Amino acid sequence: MPLLLTDLRADHLTDPLALRRTTPRLTWRLGADGTACAATAHRIRITGAHGDEAHDTGWIETSDAALEPEGFAGEPGAEYRWHLAVRGDDGSVAEASAGFGIGLADWDAPWAEPVQERVLTEGPLTLGPEAFAPAEDATPPGERLHPPRYLRQEFELPAAPVSARLRITSQGVHQPSLNGLPAGDGLLAPGYESYQHEISVMTHDVTALLREGANVLGVILGDGWYAGRISILGRSAQYGDLLRATWRLEVELPDGTRRVIRPDAAVRSSRGAIDWSDIFIGERHDATAAVQGWDAPTDDAEAFAGWTPCALVPVDVPLVPFVGEPIRRVRELPAQSILTTPAGETVIDFGQVMAGRVRMRVRGERGTVVRLEHAEVLDAEGDFLNNILGVNKDQADEYVLAGDEAGEEWEPLFTFHGFRYVKLIGYPGSPAPEDFTAAVIANDLEQTASFSSSHARLDRLVENTVWSQRSNFLAVPTDCPQRERAGWTGDLQIFAPTAATLMGVAAFLDRWLANVRVDQAAHDGVVPIIVPMPPAMDDPDLPNAGLGDIRDAAGWSDAITIAPWELYRHYGDPRFLRDNLDAMRIWVEHQTAVAASTLPAGLDPATLSEERLARQRLLWNGRMNFGDWLAPSTLDGSRPEADGLDGFAAIMLAPQLTAELTGPLFQIRSLDLYAASAEALGDTATAAQVRAQATAVRAAFAAEYVGDDGRIGPDMQGIAVLALAFDAVPAEVRPRVVERLVELVHEAGIHLDTGFVSVPFLLDVLWDEGHPDLARALLIQDTAPSWLYEVDHGATTIWEAWRAVHEDGTVERMSMNHYAFGCVVDWMMRRLAGIEAVEPGYRRTRIAPDLDGVLDHCRAHVDAPAGRIAVDWRRDGATAELTVELPLGVGADVDLAPGWILDGSAALSPGIHTLRARRTEESTAS
Ligand code: BGC
Repeated sequence: MPLLLTDLRADHLTDPLALRRTTPRLTWRLGADGTACAATAHRIRITGAHGDEAHDTGWIETSDAALEPEGFAGEPGAEYRWHLAVRGDDGSVAEASAGFGIGLADWDAPWAEPVQERVLTEGPLTLGPEAFAPAEDATPPGERLHPPRYLRQEFELPAAPVSARLRITSQGVHQPSLNGLPAGDGLLAPGYESYQHEISVMTHDVTALLREGANVLGVILGDGWYAGRISILGRSAQYGDLLRATWRLEVELPDGTRRVIRPDAAVRSSRGAIDWSDIFIGERHDATAAVQGWDAPTDDAEAFAGWTPCALVPVDVPLVPFVGEPIRRVRELPAQSILTTPAGETVIDFGQVMAGRVRMRVRGERGTVVRLEHAEVLDAEGDFLNNILGVNKDQADEYVLAGDEAGEEWEPLFTFHGFRYVKLIGYPGSPAPEDFTAAVIANDLEQTASFSSSHARLDRLVENTVWSQRSNFLAVPTDCPQRERAGWTGDLQIFAPTAATLMGVAAFLDRWLANVRVDQAAHDGVVPIIVPMPPAMDDPDLPNAGLGDIRDAAGWSDAITIAPWELYRHYGDPRFLRDNLDAMRIWVEHQTAVAASTLPAGLDPATLSEERLARQRLLWNGRMNFGDWLAPSTLDGSRPEADGLDGFAAIMLAPQLTAELTGPLFQIRSLDLYAASAEALGDTATAAQVRAQATAVRAAFAAEYVGDDGRIGPDMQGIAVLALAFDAVPAEVRPRVVERLVELVHEAGIHLDTGFVSVPFLLDVLWDEGHPDLARALLIQDTAPSWLYEVDHGATTIWEAWRAVHEDGTVERMSMNHYAFGCVVDWMMRRLAGIEAVEPGYRRTRIAPDLDGVLDHCRAHVDAPAGRIAVDWRRDGATAELTVELPLGVGADVDLAPGWILDGSAALSPGIHTLRARRTEESTAS
């Protein structure tokens, strides 16, 4: 029986139209149709658009299901098909084919720049209290914001095309249409990126939208991230204050001739029905001002005479192909209920915290204004509470009714909100739940894992994490979808292993890492704490620019070593390492140089012994950073130093106590991962040299900070966890550090006292150091701070702080949708469900169900590159049954806890296995 070939992908995508790399990585999955068959060789032929042969790899003897065809480089703008043949060990040959295209390398079209008012530059420049204060005297948005521009280009075609591609991008966000129909189903294109360095071009197949004769290309242009209010400060016009779009509509006609339509003198623009639109502030749509048929052909020569011609401006920034899943509506949630709150307000509850916007049906008099305000929580009394503070962070949409008797429907175009509840103001008649739908928007990533068990609250925790990922994998990986919406590098690295398990993030993070590299290059090797780094927070000439002295940070900037490594581990794609290796090197060299030239604030070189000075000069500990950010005991007053602190001062206590230690600990982490990456790519000499440096840093750290009694620095859980996880304590002291960590956990009443950067490692460290029961107890702890406290207090996403909602229902003005603490899902998949990659790409997998833990059964899967790895296990007293499903190309070892015996072999080959296990008599007796 031949093999079955499925999931043919180029650069992790199905039939992508415009890749950035000219030599894509081609991958596929193998199925065996029930027969035992293994792949022994493959061959790939690549053909051009007209079937012409472009490349032939010949037969390659290998069982791999991935290839970067050596010697093939696609032509910019060309499209190809690849034809895969795989030979099985029974001699049979299977065949399948798929497509890919290469995006343009050079751009030859101008910007179309409509006549427009410039975007007002507003918002605070520094992170003072005003950045978090509601703008009490803010001028109404209508007086501050300008209307989006509507662009219209008429053109003639002698015949309906056989093929047409629209390549389009903008400074601002754009929505393209052809002859009145949307071109593609993407939203908020081209997304958010380091626009000053490069801007992505979207590619759409628009063959079906064009016709013989008159055609019209329409483009709506809004402020978006480019010109609108963004990031922690809510400041506008960060990248520019004029909106522009450029496009190439490439048409192939039936006679084989080609035409390219670019912006030209025919492009005219006007304002339309949208009065204003801003990512943060919201959108106002005046349906009384709608221009019917604005993007469709017309016989009325005068219809658009009042529209003004656009200026044609040279494109002066590199344009690159957008590769990956666009932002789309990924879910639609019906309103669950409409409440009248104690304060008498009408509030719609969608039952789920999310990122998106509301689609509303309404019928009423022309000119009626309906306003929708968004928030994630209700307060302790059950009243609507805007939990996001900050100038320009209104999160409110308005709709002016046209007065259509049949009713009208509206959803904003260029904004989104972080919300569960919507306050409805001015709705005519009595609102009914069926008139409101939440459109959840996100980059449309496939979900690649599941977890369902006998523990409903743990299942909900996983579900909440998926929702926080869905809400924050939106344009770039963000901290939260309401208050900041910023690409905080720390949040992403913390969550990266979970992110890669739960969703197909390869293309999304590949794109973001390209932004990290260009932002790093623009910062002399410093990896910024936010990518894209908004220019206003980044101007050294400003007093206290953005975040004061913190430009790079331990556990934030180290995303450049951690994220590529985690992606390599998950996808087995060495390009994540190859593409980022140089950036890793530059980053660790920067750390080394800063270490050699700075000392912690309290240290005076004159009073240090030579030996100590030499040690301190190895440690990256002389700069302020965020430390173990939000460590609970620094916020809840349980530490003596926290006495009397509140607000910002309390938040900054964790950095003050821990930054000197998280610096060198993450320095060790980055050195280790840089060394491992070099080694994985075959550069053993670099790996050895970097490892030697890591050894020296470890020794210096231990001598400077690790006490013989096992206490480290401020003696907090998080620091002990990181020191153990990153192997920064000498072997002889290790047992005492573990003992001290265990004591600290008990002193905290079996609660977490780990902040952002240490929490991903807490449960693994306890487990690996012989305290699995304590790890399990922390996982199912349900008083704060703990994961299940959130679940029990109504969380539908992961909160920014463990006590964002207090026992008495009091709500902190914090984000309810921060994925960082959801990092525990990676641990649950590995240690509870029991699926863990041992070799990159899961080629070797460990199956280690937690038969001694809190679950009676668990069913979970991870979609590895080779295919689905699934477990389904059930424990019944002293026996357990386990079903494991492995795709071709994946081998696994079953690894049960001591006290359990497996009936049969622990080494599993591809296929479905049903296994039994029982407790040993000794373990049953004890
Ligand atoms: C963000 C975080 C971020 C942090 C830096 C916050 O305001 O929401 O998630 O990583 O600042 O410490």
